[in-house]
Amino acid sequence: MKSVLLLVLSFCSYRTGGSRVWGDRYFNRSSPGGLQLDLDLDLDLDLDLDLDLSVVFRRVDPRFLSVTIDSSLAAQERFMLLLGSQKIKFLAEALSPAFLRFGGTRQDFMVFTPQRSRQEQQKVELAADESCDAMQLPWWLEQQLKQDWVQQQQILMTEELQRKYHRIQFSELTVDLLHSFSICAGFDLIFGLNALLRTSDNSWNSSNARTLLQYCESRRYSMSWELGNEPNSYEKKAGIRVDGYQLGLDFTRLRKIMSESTLYRDTGLYGPDVGQPRDHRTDIMKGFLQSGAKAIDACTWHHYYVNGRDTSLEDFLDPDVLDSLALKINEVLEMIKLESPGKSMWLGETSSAYGGGAVGLSDTFVAGFMWLDKLGLGAKLGLDVVMRQVLVGSGSYHLIDEDLNPLPDYWLSVLYKRLVGPEVLKIQAFSNFGRSKRVRVYLHCANKKSYSSGAVVLISMNLSKKPARISLPALASSSTVDAFVLQSDQPGEEGLYSRWVKLNGAVLKLVDDKTFPDLGGVRLPPAEHLQLPAYSLAFFVLVDAKAAACR
Ligand SMILES: *[C@@H]1O[C@H](CO)[C@@H](O)[C@H](O)[C@H]1NC(C)=O
Ligand SMILES: *[C@@H]1O[C@H](CO)[C@@H](O)[C@H](O)[C@H]1NC(C)=O
Repeated sequence: MKSVLLLVLSFCSYRTGGSRVWGDRYFNRSSPGGLQLDLDLDLDLDLDLDLDLSVVFRRVDPRFLSVTIDSSLAAQERFMLLLGSQKIKFLAEALSPAFLRFGGTRQDFMVFTPQRSRQEQQKVELAADESCDAMQLPWWLEQQLKQDWVQQQQILMTEELQRKYHRIQFSELTVDLLHSFSICAGFDLIFGLNALLRTSDNSWNSSNARTLLQYCESRRYSMSWELGNEPNSYEKKAGIRVDGYQLGLDFTRLRKIMSESTLYRDTGLYGPDVGQPRDHRTDIMKGFLQSGAKAIDACTWHHYYVNGRDTSLEDFLDPDVLDSLALKINEVLEMIKLESPGKSMWLGETSSAYGGGAVGLSDTFVAGFMWLDKLGLGAKLGLDVVMRQVLVGSGSYHLIDEDLNPLPDYWLSVLYKRLVGPEVLKIQAFSNFGRSKRVRVYLHCANKKSYSSGAVVLISMNLSKKPARISLPALASSSTVDAFVLQSDQPGEEGLYSRWVKLNGAVLKLVDDKTFPDLGGVRLPPAEHLQLPAYSLAFFVLVDAKAAACR
């Protein structure tokens, strides 16, 4: 059993003060409200779990796992029609509730250019059938767009490498398609406005945004807003320098415009979508908060672990790389605490690797470790929303591939949505060498839509080269466990590069364009041994945990 991590659930129960708690013969009180669990020591690596089922430690937004569509999809507007695909809509729906952020580098080159006259507009309104099934993309057009997208991706990539961005004109079509897609999927749309439209005194020229807001208001589109994408690199992208303080003033101006609209008076505004804080990016964030904090509902920044063109499989499994997120989160938290205490913090755009992702890694099974760990760590440390770059479209970090088939991170996301509730509980794994880095665990209340109150879900992953054994002792004596173990369809290291994933041994594949495979767990009776195999990601729902925090 050397190379297999055993999550051994031994089900003896203790009673303290009348309530059942986690514990076994080794249990002793460690910290107030917490339980220290010591474990059998006969294997190389021994793990203790320190956890607390009595209180909710943090609560994230119910839309915590959210997604993006990169604005590059609109570089040629006809590609936006892909959002009319029944299959994408079906796949998206399984990820709701969520935000859908439409933004990215191209957003700061996009100009709203209405095409329809007033009369035409009225015709469209009459013809518009709000029913989601009625809005169908003909199959032949879908085929054509998927084919053409391959070449379009090349064009976009070249543009990015040369840092030469063309002005993009978009019409009502882009907004209409985004809005109807969001409604059908159950997403809350966030539209990223162009902040690079500047006046001669280098303040934001809001005139185009006004026109767009007026159009959206005329259609009664409920949506929220952002302004600008990664302002820290405006100089590189466009030869324009905008400091944080000025950007904050621009946001204040946008907030004022919104407040004059009956529809957008109370809707969200998020920013500044600054790249991962370091060097002068930190100054941008600071300056921005000083002048603009009052205008925003959440402070957003972007996070990628590695450079997509310069990374390896090892990085994707490296606990130090995964832990680097913690440093960044704490840095931004400090800044927010100083400049705008209590402001909600989001990852406004995030994925494994920047530069479009890492080819052959960001779209394969191994990407799941970065994704699941980001969700676990982010919820624990202070993020309220995490927006995954991208749902569909640009790069290799998509959840749905160019053929509109789900990739491993898509399945992981669907399971996360179904199983994990917004309440974060305290848990930590310690080995005899200190905090365990290679076996990573997180604990939430189970999603109350799927499980009855009191249930918790243990999120765990095995990055360990050493065999380890966790005895996760006693739950309520009657408790059962629903296990959802994700592995590659191929064994060993080769399998990490696979675009297919198995759930409890069965490869996940759509039955047809609107039917999921079985996504149920394996129900294990009490006292069963749970195995967490090599290179695996797992959700263990402790159905009868009776956690006071999850009542
Ligand atoms: C975890 O995965 C490693 C591969 O990194 C494997 O060698 C090991 O057996 C697994 N450990 C456990 C405890 O399952
Ligand atoms: C803002 O942009 C519009 C064109 O979109 C232009 O007509 C107007 O003069 C600009 N305003 C300023 C103050 O630069």
